[in-house]
Formats: sequence, structure tokens, C-alpha cells
Amino acid sequence: MKVALEERVAIVTGGAQGIGRSIVDALIDNGAQVAIVDIDKEAGKKTAEEIQQSGGTCLFVEGDVSNASEMVSAADQVVAHFGKVEILVNNAGINTRSDRVPIHQYAFEDWQRILDIDLTGVFTTSRAVIPHILECHSKSGSENATGRIVNISSIAGLVPLRLQSAYVAAKAGVANLTRSMALELGPEGILVNAVAPGSTLTRGTEALFYGDDGAYTENAASLLSHIPLGRPGKTTEIAAAVLFLVSPDASYINGNILTVDGGWTAGYTRDW
Ligand SMILES: NC(=O)c1ccc[n+]([C@@H]2O[C@H](COP(=O)([O-])OP(=O)(O)OC[C@H]3O[C@@H](n4cnc5c(N)ncnc54)[C@H](O)[C@@H]3O)[C@@H](O)[C@H]2O)c1
Repeated sequence: MKVALEERVAIVTGGAQGIGRSIVDALIDNGAQVAIVDIDKEAGKKTAEEIQQSGGTCLFVEGDVSNASEMVSAADQVVAHFGKVEILVNNAGINTRSDRVPIHQYAFEDWQRILDIDLTGVFTTSRAVIPHILECHSKSGSENATGRIVNISSIAGLVPLRLQSAYVAAKAGVANLTRSMALELGPEGILVNAVAPGSTLTRGTEALFYGDDGAYTENAASLLSHIPLGRPGKTTEIAAAVLFLVSPDASYINGNILTVDGGWTAGYTRDW
């Protein structure tokens, strides 16, 4: 997909790797200038350098999305560097560590950490960046409105899963926060939508899917049996949905949660 994002400036949180990296690449390939805000300094710098070396315009800003003052500083640094910002992709997120347990055994620290990053992080970053978007985008109701926010939720925020209390709650929060932001910011000419990925292959999730022999593990096969397409998603497939939502042609889409899950949440795959 080719869209016209020349002159547009975007912030992608968690853009150093995984899905965020593919989102950054998609925006860069379509002419945008991109700032990566990520807690991982080494990976963030490396990604920004790689993009610059291949001719893209990319800035790395170190920051933790759960820290409100760091997000204010990150937004200010991006505007000081590029002069403006019009697009925000709230992608940074984490999930439960490997030991998955029911709610009555769930560690409070894990709950707090995941809520702080996955839900509060969307709030703190949006709160810091929106005033800058309001300063520069085309005004209210315009078909040319350039202000766009895309939040990365998850199918786990739409259809709850077992043993991931904090993650399902945080991602459901992101979905409803997205709708509320769309109501508040639509009149200002900023369109707010979410993408809800299903299982997506990243370096982090690859080990969950593939055994040493390169075949799907037993757990993965069971997981994949819920997906009509029978495979995990690619990061580029999630990025394509984000690219569409920030594209000029998506000018009347606001408050939508776009699932990109191979049909996982379309219904039951079992026969009855
Ligand atoms: N991979 C999947 O299967 C999947 C499925 C559904 C939703 N998601 C969501 O997609 C988003 C990206 O996931 P991913 O799989 O690419 O993860 P990832 O771990 O590969 O990458 C996440 C990035 O976010 C950064 N990050 C983590 N905590 C941060 C913080 N506090 N502040 C700033 N940056 C931080 C990391 O350094 C990393 O660069 C997340 O919101 C995740 O919940 C992923």
C-alpha cells in the first residue's frame, strides 16, 4: 500500500523493535518523518541509525511511557527537532511474564507494571502529545484533517483470555479509551482509532511458536487452531492497518477498533 505522508511527522512509542519497528518502517516508506520513543536506548538508537543510513528521517528519544514527565519532555524534544507532530501511534506495551496464573495468585507488582505501561502509558503519551497536534493540524471537521492517533490494543482487550488479568484489563481499557478520545478529539479534527492485533510473530513471541526443529510447538498448534487463517500474523500486517488509519484516505474513520487477527475473534471455530 502506498499513501502520501510526505511532510508528516509521527511519533511511534515502542518503535525500536517488534510491531512498532514495522510501523516505523511503513511510515518512513511512505514519506513521513518519524520519532521513536522507547525505553530501550540501545535498540532505539540502532533502529534510528539504520533508518537514517537507508535515507529515512528518524529521531530516537529515550523515554518510559509510564512516566508522565518523561513523555512531556519527549514530546517537546520531537517538536523542537521537527517543528511539529501530527501523528501519534501508542504502541509500547508489555505482557505477563511466562508464569501465567489465575487472578487470586496474580502478583500485584505485575498488575501494576502492566497497567502502568499498557494503559496509563497511552494516557500519559496522548496527554503530552495532543496539545502539539492541536497546534498544527488542519481544523475541525475538515476532510484534510492531518491529526491522527492510533492506539495498539489487542484481541485480548476485546475477547478476554485466561491467566492474563492485567493485560486483558489494560487492553480493554485501551479500546474504550480510544472511543472516548475519538468523541473528544473528533470535533478538533483529530481522528482516533485502535488496532487490535491477534498473535503476531516478533522476536519475543517467536520462541512461543517454534521448536528447535522449526515446526510449531504443541502449544502453538493449539493456539493456532483458534485462528481461521491457521498462522500467526506478521508485524508488517499489523503495520499495514496502522498505515491505512493514518492515511489521508481514512478521513471519515474515527473511534474504530480494527482487529487484525486472521479471524480469531470472528466467532467460534469449533463445530457444535
Ligand atoms: N506480538 C503480539 O502477539 C501482540 C499481540 C497483540 C497486541 N500486541 C501489542 O503490540 C504492541 C507491540 O508489541 P510487540 O509484540 O511488538 O512487543 P515487543 O516487546 O517486540 O516491542 C515492544 C517495544 O516497546 C518498548 N517498551 C516496552 N516498555 C516500554 C515503556 N515503558 N516505555 C517505552 N517503550 C517501552 C520495548 O523496548 C520494545 O521496543 C504492544 O502494545 C503489545 O501489547 C502484540
